[in-house]
Amino acid sequence: MLTRRLRETGAEVVVVDNGLVGGPELGLSGVTYIDGDVLDTGSWEKALDGVDAVVHLAAIVGDPACGVDTDTAWNVNYLGTIRVAEACRRAGIRSLVFASTCSNYGFTADAEVGVWSPMAPQSVYAESKVLSEHYLLSLPRDEFFPRLLRFATIHGLSPRMRFDLAVNVMTANAVEHGRVTVHGGTQWRPFLHVEDAAAAVHLVLGDDRPAAPSIYNCGFGEENYRMDSIGKLIAEEVDGVHMEILEEHTDPRNYRVNFDPIRRELGFTPSRRVVDTAREIRDAMRAGKYSDFASPRYSNYLTAVAQRVDPVSA
Ligand SMILES: NC(=O)c1ccc[n+]([C@@H]2O[C@H](COP(=O)([O-])OP(=O)(O)OC[C@H]3O[C@@H](n4cnc5c(N)ncnc54)[C@H](O)[C@@H]3O)[C@@H](O)[C@H]2O)c1
Repeated sequence: MLTRRLRETGAEVVVVDNGLVGGPELGLSGVTYIDGDVLDTGSWEKALDGVDAVVHLAAIVGDPACGVDTDTAWNVNYLGTIRVAEACRRAGIRSLVFASTCSNYGFTADAEVGVWSPMAPQSVYAESKVLSEHYLLSLPRDEFFPRLLRFATIHGLSPRMRFDLAVNVMTANAVEHGRVTVHGGTQWRPFLHVEDAAAAVHLVLGDDRPAAPSIYNCGFGEENYRMDSIGKLIAEEVDGVHMEILEEHTDPRNYRVNFDPIRRELGFTPSRRVVDTAREIRDAMRAGKYSDFASPRYSNYLTAVAQRVDPVSA
């Protein structure tokens, strides 16, 4: 998504990805692809010559996927961030955009959180992002300026489709099984379409104000939802769907986030909302796509389980 957007603006793009969970969208012209690991920057560092900015997206993404092998999650997410930042500094690259997450806020008692609110990570995934942020913010800001984007939970159709994200999988289940299941329902979460996430990175890359903030919450105030209202919204878009609310909470996270600064300062406004994703996934599935949406290839957790090396047999 981001690569396409950057190409549309004429930027040359180098993508480094180790293909762990599907990898990048291949075959775009003007894009150089490197099969590389963030933990092994030495093998691809030369590619940073002449680069103006780096966007660090690579990670083991999501609480369940990180829980499969927490050592690997810490290595890739925390150590990997240190390695990428060090490589940028050696290459004299000032601008690094880091993909962080609103999951860092973890659990808040219904009040809206801002960038300086306390963080309460509930998982190795969020802890590794919080510590990565601390590391990046601790670096001297003279010749290196990391910008942290704490993304809301992403949704929407994308080239590397994920059906382990709440809105996507709930919509797919609604279409396929005629059922929307909500666990708990009273917990708040902010959501952001993947196209808008790419737009935000693009805006930040173009923001060269010397006093630009280091951290933005990345999303939209009106896209904070209680999970039961997400269920209702999807049920309204897919005919004949039954919604069930289970008391059991499978995810302790609950946070409502203030996104005013990124809108006020960078003019960041939504191009799509949760309802648009419900419609786009519904329509894609009715057109015959994604009948295999439960396949491990759409799930970071199932991919991590399939790739786990059993320590006994290793
Ligand atoms: N999806 C969300 O809801 C969400 C929310 C907040 C923040 N983020 C952050 O945005 C970024 C992108 O997330 P995504 O949803 O596109 O996830 P994703 O799992 O689709 O993408 C992660 C990419 O990193 C690559 N990768 C993993 N380990 C690597 C390694 N050691 N070296 C090189 N590449 C490696 C994978 O192959 C994959 O292409 C991540 O940093 C994530 O933490 C995502």
